[in-house]
Amino acid sequence: MEQKKNVVLIGMTGAGKTTVGISLSYRLKMPFVDMDSWIEKKAGKSIPQIFADEGEEAFRALETEAARKLGEENGMIISTGGGVVMRPENMEHLKKNAIVVYLNRSIEDIVKTLRMEKRPMLAGKTDTLYPMYEKRHPLYLSYADIEVVNHSDFKEGVENVYRALADKL
Ligand code: S3P
Repeated sequence: MEQKKNVVLIGMTGAGKTTVGISLSYRLKMPFVDMDSWIEKKAGKSIPQIFADEGEEAFRALETEAARKLGEENGMIISTGGGVVMRPENMEHLKKNAIVVYLNRSIEDIVKTLRMEKRPMLAGKTDTLYPMYEKRHPLYLSYADIEVVNHSDFKEGVENVYRALADKL
């Protein structure tokens, strides 16, 4: 039987991966899973708490486990954490059976809506977003099958991803 592909959303923290992913899942009638929520369930605590108790490396190990497990799924919309591209192994797992969509949103727009308390990597400073973007943007591009620019209007973002996926699923 032919396997239905996953749709994997990648992009910076605050780019709208989860919001767009949930709407897309209604639109495409595909189940949705958020990798960070998967990790939180597995660890039994929130992401900031994992960082505080066990450090970033422990979080990254859980992230890789999530990528391995979710890479085996089919027909799912998967939103990822912004740092998922930092380990090539993660993307190998996730790209096995997927169309990867890079949600590219400007840092200026991200700063307007970002909830800092949920993002331990930023250590309370939006300045950290700029070097992070410089480092990650080329990686997002290199793994993406489709790049969609996500402006402030999320509805438009969903529509643009939906249209870009139309002939690929
Ligand atoms: C991270 C982004 C977060 C989360 C973790 C690490 C990162 O996800 O996975 O805090 O390295 O940028 P979001 O992209 O949903 O904020």
